[in-house]
Amino acid sequence: MSYKGIIFDLDGVICSTDEYHYQAWKALADRLGIPFDRERNNLLRGVSRMQSLEIILEKSDKAYSEEEKAAFAEEKNTLYRQLLGQMSTKDLSDDVKDTLQALRAQGLKLAIGSSSKNTPFILERIGLGDFFDAVADGNCITRSKPDPEVFLKAAEFIGENPGDCLVVEDAHAGVEAARGGGFDCAAMGDAKEDPRATYHLEKFSDLLKYV
Ligand code: BG6
Ligand code: MG
Repeated sequence: MSYKGIIFDLDGVICSTDEYHYQAWKALADRLGIPFDRERNNLLRGVSRMQSLEIILEKSDKAYSEEEKAAFAEEKNTLYRQLLGQMSTKDLSDDVKDTLQALRAQGLKLAIGSSSKNTPFILERIGLGDFFDAVADGNCITRSKPDPEVFLKAAEFIGENPGDCLVVEDAHAGVEAARGGGFDCAAMGDAKEDPRATYHLEKFSDLLKYV
């Protein structure tokens, strides 16, 4: 299949910020005495900050007000941004960097489709602030994955139809969003074995086999 555009998830695909999400949520959950581990963390992949918090609070026996929940989300995000602040161009792997350059050299349009409101900050930290042709992120959507909105926005921004674009995802919610929006999907990481995915990637550069 020859694609015209590729839409990448950010956290866990372009860079390993999924680990920082985990560390920041874990610190909050520990403080509140709520059980939380890496397996449960996988449920948060692709979903918005507030939905992530709701999933964590399902294991709490206390009920919290909306104000308390907003403060928890803020607390997590502050810690998360401290971790992001330590990132640099060294946090962009050679495998990802070289693959992105090779895809660009093939004339493909390259976009980001991420639920994260921290997307611009992260791209800046890893030296990709000006790299992508379009960025659709948590700042321009009303529904996060598994809703296809963010990918449809990204396709619109690069002027291509979903059927001509490939989405790259590490989250089951993201695979569902891509397929629901009419996109082919290359799955990696936690979602690698997802049967709904079109391709299954061992590593990011495996993408080059399919485009
Ligand atoms: C997604 C992550 O990319 O962004 C989720 O996979 C996260 O785990 C979501 O909850 C929102 O991120 P942020 O940076 O806006 O809190
Ligand atoms: Mg992800």
